[in-house]
Amino acid sequence: MANLPMLKIGGHTPKYPIVQGGMGVKISGAGLAGAVAANGGIGTIASVGLACDHPLFDGMNYFDINEIAMSEAVTAARAAAPDGVLAVNCMTALTDYDRQVRSACEAGVDIIVSGAGLPMKLPEYTKDFPSVAIVPIVSSVKAADLIIRKWGKQYGRLPDAIVVETPLYAGGHLGATRMEHVTDSAFSLEAVVPELVKYLSDTVHADIPVIAAGGIWDRDDMQRAFGLGAKGVQIGTRFVCTEECDASPRFKQAYLDASEDDVLVIMSPVGIPGRALRNPFVEKYTEGLADSKPCMAACLSHCEYLRAGSTFCIAQALVDAYQGSWETGLFFTGSNVVKCGKIDTVAGIFKELAG
Ligand SMILES: Cc1cc2nc3c(=O)[nH]c(=O)nc-3n(C[C@H](O)[C@H](O)[C@H](O)COP(=O)(O)O)c2cc1C
Repeated sequence: MANLPMLKIGGHTPKYPIVQGGMGVKISGAGLAGAVAANGGIGTIASVGLACDHPLFDGMNYFDINEIAMSEAVTAARAAAPDGVLAVNCMTALTDYDRQVRSACEAGVDIIVSGAGLPMKLPEYTKDFPSVAIVPIVSSVKAADLIIRKWGKQYGRLPDAIVVETPLYAGGHLGATRMEHVTDSAFSLEAVVPELVKYLSDTVHADIPVIAAGGIWDRDDMQRAFGLGAKGVQIGTRFVCTEECDASPRFKQAYLDASEDDVLVIMSPVGIPGRALRNPFVEKYTEGLADSKPCMAACLSHCEYLRAGSTFCIAQALVDAYQGSWETGLFFTGSNVVKCGKIDTVAGIFKELAG
């Protein structure tokens, strides 16, 4: 496709301006991220819960094994895409956020992407790795402004790119503090992307690329995002139904089976809304009958399950989903899941979107 913009993030320029969004727990591991990077996009490993099925994880040493698993995941993805661009998505809400960022940098990743809260200290954690680009995820210009002010004042640093993720369509935890924001058009890509582009050029006076995320499926969606001023798109849900995606076949089958009625937004134990598939686990939870496994590792800095015993252990529920347990798992998804009709290949998706 001749008219794709060039997406330059710090010193890293992928062949195509297509970012595969980080998807935890282990939905985007080394397999998917390596394949996306090898096909010319930015492949993103989700850092959350990497230890969960590591052979050295004994139930107690979660944070130490996360570091080992991070190093192994980045090394494996790099082997699949020696010249590709690789990112790690580290959620600000994680207890071991700083350790995860540092171990990803040490393992040789190109970009750290951070959302699920405002990554106010990210420049501090990456300061020894000047070639690592840093990219916050926001859902409003206000959030971008707070980050830019803080980073500028405290670290003299600007973001290398900014992902705008709309809660209207995206999967997983949504950048909305209140349920009513999830459907509020003030948080649409159409509203936020042009306003952010204008703010970055007119107020910040910096050439910071904006990446649009949430509801991107085909070339038309991409062109719409580029028309709003985005220099790249981030896609999550579509990459789940690929041979290379690290989730179990049962996870992918749940995507293939889903209809519009099966997509729900629930309040997560983190205290923000999340989009997920309707299944026995979610139905019980919404009826107030949450059936939780015990806390896996105190992995979140704010967790309603750990704090008050309400809700459920989200780490366990996401691990169960990754491993394919339909009854007990939390299957995060974007609303585009209804379009998943077959298991594709990463190369096939790139051919359609960028070939
Ligand atoms: C299964 C799943 C898990 C996700 N996990 C994360 C995550 O760990 N961290 C994060 O920042 N975003 C996460 N996301 C959001 C994606 O990275 C992506 O930005 C979003 O889903 C884009 O919208 P789309 O799915 O409509 O393409 C997740 C999305 C899905 C579908």
